[in-house]
Amino acid sequence: MQNHSCNVVKEGTTSNEPQHQSPPLRLPTWFYQCKTFSIVELDTSRFPFRELVADWLEVSSDKLEKIHTISSIPESRIPLHPTIRQAWVASKTEPKISSTMRRAKKKGLFSSPQYKRYVDKYRLFLKEVIAPLCCDPSSSTQQNIVYQYPPTTRVVLPNGNKTISMHCDRDYPNHQAAEINFWLPLTNVFESNSLFVESEPGKGDFQPLKLRYGQFLKFDGHDCRHYTVHNETQTCRVSIDFRVVPSCLAQKERSQIGDFCVEETTEDGYKAFWSPSKNSGPKPCSQSVQHKHIHH
Ligand SMILES: [Fe+2]
Repeated sequence: MQNHSCNVVKEGTTSNEPQHQSPPLRLPTWFYQCKTFSIVELDTSRFPFRELVADWLEVSSDKLEKIHTISSIPESRIPLHPTIRQAWVASKTEPKISSTMRRAKKKGLFSSPQYKRYVDKYRLFLKEVIAPLCCDPSSSTQQNIVYQYPPTTRVVLPNGNKTISMHCDRDYPNHQAAEINFWLPLTNVFESNSLFVESEPGKGDFQPLKLRYGQFLKFDGHDCRHYTVHNETQTCRVSIDFRVVPSCLAQKERSQIGDFCVEETTEDGYKAFWSPSKNSGPKPCSQSVQHKHIHH
């Protein structure tokens, strides 16, 4: 069992800084209210993430729960996403896919029009839906957020291994104390085919979340432990997740959230940050462009 004491320093307190943890930061009371565990309704007509993700996964959106039965995909259309490809390969004996082809396919995936449609809608969702959930409610002006880009997409097949062991995000490098986590399942999730998360740091009240598509979770993944288990159901799980920091609390010089690049909402769209590289100096994050407008 990992130590799960909270390293976030509430107003008027101090703490030593353990390895891999964010430096002490004074956080306002409203922020603690923002990151409480809650389930939020998603407007799926305005933000149809199930269809958008299915599109770039190259799976019919009504088949997301049954990706493991996609052997009908023709030989000429090898799936781009690694897990979908794994299901496709498992359904055949040949051909095996070379690492060269994998790299080419991955490059093709991120430059595809389907993927661009998805991330454009993600940016709009962050600005219009997520930012208001992460800001000081007493403020009369729209506040901006720094957010993970791109979001993490997870695909778990029936009989699939756990994707994460029990942890808090602060156990890993490059996380910030003022992060708020979001988990948005694109399939109904339940029992072993879901996320287990405690509702408060150290509380230990783990339950598999039972959510339907059209709901998403806001939670304190920085300090609350969470994990998944072996999927013993006959249903695939597809989800996206991401982390957000209110701009007024962000440590922007870090220009990273975990392993991901970051962007920030702006009055008329978003701006991307430059990510440091150990070997070659600053370089732009993949997929990001400086100062862009969001297309509705
Ligand atoms: Fe996590």
